[in-house]
Order: sequence, then C-alpha cells, then structure tokens
Amino acid sequence: MKKILITGGAGFIGSHVVRLFVTKYPNYQIINVDKLTYAGNLANLKDIENKPNYSFIKGDIVDAAFISELFSIHTFDSVIHLAAESHVDRSISNPLEFVMTNVIGTVNLLNAAKNEWKDNFSAHRFYHVSTDEVYGTLGETGLFTETTAYDPHSPYSASKASSDHFVRAYHDTYGMDAVISNCSNNYGSHHFPEKLIPLSILNIKNNKSIPIYGKGENIRDWLYVEDHARAIDVIFHNAKTGATFNIGGHNEWTNIDLIHLLCKIMDKKLNRADGESAKLITFVKDRAGHDLRYAIDSSKLQNELGWVPSLQFEEGLEKTVDWYLSNEDWLNNVTSGDYQKYYEVQYTKR
Ligand code: NAD
Ligand code: TYD
Repeated sequence: MKKILITGGAGFIGSHVVRLFVTKYPNYQIINVDKLTYAGNLANLKDIENKPNYSFIKGDIVDAAFISELFSIHTFDSVIHLAAESHVDRSISNPLEFVMTNVIGTVNLLNAAKNEWKDNFSAHRFYHVSTDEVYGTLGETGLFTETTAYDPHSPYSASKASSDHFVRAYHDTYGMDAVISNCSNNYGSHHFPEKLIPLSILNIKNNKSIPIYGKGENIRDWLYVEDHARAIDVIFHNAKTGATFNIGGHNEWTNIDLIHLLCKIMDKKLNRADGESAKLITFVKDRAGHDLRYAIDSSKLQNELGWVPSLQFEEGLEKTVDWYLSNEDWLNNVTSGDYQKYYEVQYTKR
C-alpha cells in the first residue's frame, strides 16, 4: 500500500484532491495534514472521512519538529503539498504569515523528506502545488508558459515563487524527485467566501453589494477545481522528475464580465427579475499591486500527458452556484465568527 501525505487537504483545492485520491485509489493510504486555519474545514471531507484508506492529522507545517517526527513515524512514499496561505488581500495585510507557511513550511517538508528519502530518492516523489501568479502579470496579449520568467508582485505570489525555487533547488542539489505545477484561478464547491466568486455568490444571495476592485478590467483564467485535481493526479503519476507543468482552462474573463454572468445565473436560480442582482455591483478602491491579466498556456500538459479541462465555464459556474445554494449550513458555519471581522476590515471604507 502506497502511503501519501497530502498537506492542506482540508482547504478548497486540497479537499478535492484528497477526495479524488481516496476514492480513485483504494490501495493508497492518504494522510491529510492540515493546521485547520480559517480556510481549513473538515466539513469539506465529510463524505470520505470514514473511508479506511483516509486519515487526518492536525498539525502545522511551520513546526519543524512536528514535521520531522511525522516523516519518521509514517515513512511516506510521496508528498502532495498544497498547504498554504492563499489569499492575496490577506498577504497584503500580513506578509509574514505567508513567509512562514508558504516558504518555511515548504522548506520544513523538503528537509524532512530529504532526511527520510536520501538513500533512495527515485522511489519517492515530492509534488508541489503552485500558482500562475508567480509569473507576475501579462499585458493584453501572450500566455504564461513553463519557461516564463518569475516576476511576482504580491507578498502571496512572492512567497509561492520562493517555495517553487526551494523545491527546484532540492531537485537540482540533492537529486530529490520533485515536480511542480502552476495553476490558474480555480472555482467550484467548498471555496472559502473571501475569493471573488464565492464572496460574490454569498453577497448576491444576501442582497449585499458585490465589491469589484478598480474598474473590474482585470483578467483571470478560470478552471473548475475538479479539473485541477484531475491534472494533479495525471502529473503526480506521469511527470518526469524535475518537471513543471502549467495548468489552466483557456478561459479568460474580465472580473466585471464574470460577475455579470454570475448575476444572470443567480437571478435565474433565485427567481429574481433579469438584471436585479447586477444592481448590487459596486466599484471599490483597487487592490494594491493588482496584476492586470493572468492566462495560461497548458499545451505542454495537454500534449505530453493528455489532460484537458472537462467543463465549459457557464456549466461549471452554474454547478458551483447550485452547490452554494444547497449548502447553507456550510456557508453559515464558515462565515460565523472571524469572517465578519475580516469582512469589515477588508471592505469598510474601501
Ligand atoms: P485554501 O486557503 O483554501 O486552503 C489552504 C489549506 O492549507 C487550509 O486547509 C489551511 O488550513 C491549510 N494550512 C494553512 N497554513 C497551514 C500550515 N501552516 N500548516 C498546515 N496547514 C496549513 O487554499 P487553496 O485555494 O485550496 O489552495 C491550495 C494550494 O493551491 C495552495 O498552495 C495555493 O497556492 C495553490 N493554488 C491555488 C489556486 C486557487 O485558485 N485557489 C490556484 C493555483 C494554485
Ligand atoms: P481572487 O479571487 O482574490 O483571486 P486572485 O487575486 O488570486 O486572482 O480575485 C480574483 C480577481 O477578482 C482579482 O482580479 C481581484 C478581484 N476581486 C474583486 O474585484 N473584488 C473582491 O472582493 C475580490 C476578493 C477580488
């Protein structure tokens, strides 16, 4: 039985990756290690928590002694590392938290893996899940490829860029079997409502204003989260050692066009008159250092490993809205307590 450590498995993308691996590979033992920050939620894994090949350990990847002990107790075959602080706005208010988890936490995992695996690196894989934001911003044309130079602008993307460099360094210096993927913006179920799409769904549902930074002209390339999880599966099992893959949906939207589409879907779902939800759109002060455009060239992944996105955006967005509207308890649970405080600080006086 293969033993795989998945970090950050209680978060948005991590929970989809854990679910896919636990159900698709009953012969793998999946161990999910997560600190359960505000973004981590065991309710995301309710449907698989009693599977015999799944277990959860609460822990902080910044704690080197904990990580080192974890590796010596469990003798993992491989690691899929997703644990991170992931929200750009929070990184602007508290960059050090991002350095600690995203950089130090990743190096702690690399060190522990190196110590345990050093006699036989080729039998173990360290898969680091990263973001397209490390490449910085595009102008109106062009796409990020795997060879685009790193040029991060936010504390979040700078910390992810740094962690990518460390992962490559452990491959190049020590010979660790490491792979990295850099993915575009994800959307789907279980997404914490601080990010654009779930925050807008929540606010439209509650008839609250939808805050759009600047003029809403920034462009993101949206991918359905289950397609990201499938890409991670394909890359984990088939990539050559040291490889990097970009993952994206060929699905670019300006924020304002995306929100208009979302409002149209929500009007239909909530039996509101056409155009009713769009009245909630409110332009607010822009994000500092706001990258204009992200767009991914995923042809390497498509050509070498045969992965393609499965869903059209409108279909995926509608499924996402349906999930939020039928999971009120989940939403109420994650928006109680600290969420209200965060919202006030982030959006009042904006
Ligand atoms: P998320 O914020 O929803 O989840 C992060 C998880 O990591 C949470 O469960 C949290 O509790 C856990 N965590 C945070 N700090 C920890 C620590 N110190 N120790 C242990 N666990 C800790 O994030 P997400 O959107 O699911 O992103 C997962 C990964 O994918 C991240 O590495 C992110 O950079 C990357 N990524 C995200 C996107 C996106 O659109 N969300 C796109 C590309 C790449
Ligand atoms: P976000 O979901 O935070 O993801 P990222 O910053 O990692 O791309 O933001 C997506 C886009 O939406 C980005 O251009 C910022 C913008 N945005 C808003 O206009 N209003 C908001 O309230 C939020 C959270 C984001």
